[in-house]
Amino acid sequence: MWANHGAPNADLAQMPEGTVGAKLLFTTAPVSEVPFLAGAPEWDAYVYADPNDTNPSPTSPRAVMKVRLLQIDIAVKDSRAKETGWIFGTFVYGGGPGGQPGNGWFNVAPVGVMWGNDPGYSGTGPLTQTWLNPEVHMPHVGYQGRLNGPVDNPISSCMSCHATAELPQGTMVTVRSRTPATAKSGRDDSSLMQLPESTFKGIASASCEINSIMNRESTNDQVMTKQ
Ligand code: HEC
Repeated sequence: MWANHGAPNADLAQMPEGTVGAKLLFTTAPVSEVPFLAGAPEWDAYVYADPNDTNPSPTSPRAVMKVRLLQIDIAVKDSRAKETGWIFGTFVYGGGPGGQPGNGWFNVAPVGVMWGNDPGYSGTGPLTQTWLNPEVHMPHVGYQGRLNGPVDNPISSCMSCHATAELPQGTMVTVRSRTPATAKSGRDDSSLMQLPESTFKGIASASCEINSIMNRESTNDQVMTKQ
């Protein structure tokens, strides 16, 4: 990816203003278990035949099953986000629990946006870099109320994962060492919040991606800890 592997020039990985990245997130969960998925677009996907297997291996049997749209994530390059350069937003299908019934691709509601990770936030009082939609009532968002999606790790946040790359590499910030057991013990991601803002400045989202691969969702922790 980099012309000079040993000394990448992160300035060359700046996305133009207004760039939009998007991710559609589908789930095998049926409407009987998650009622707000009623009316969601359905795709056929080749997934693990037992979607409840919490510890699948690469060779576990697969089957074509119906998956339903649950979440739409977006990331927008916007210079008004002075420290990070990006605004992250997420939409939940059907407005989440208790949302208005509907159907089709547009029946999604914004959960919120975040344009920074509120480093140094004490845990009380309002966050200054996350806005949550008061009309959407999710069972959880992210760490200390920062933005996160319905199936994202509640002790993380969009930017907690997506903005932890740094150059030159200093602190290795991964949840690799976190086993399912320690994750259950509630160890938080506060170390991520304490990274200086300068760490975020000008970070290429491309390199975030590399880093975020190491910061998989909690459901993938088992996979990570096996490596
Ligand atoms: C636990 C870490 C983690 C959290 C939390 C997280 N992401 Fe991601 N995100 C990833 C990874 C890893 C990918 C790569 C695609 C994949 O494997 O699903 C990704 C992919 C994306 C993409 C597709 C473009 C790209 O860079 O690949 C967007 C857009 C995105 N995430 C936005 C968000 C938003 C918005 C939130 C919060 C609501 C969020 N993410 C929370 C790890 C995370």
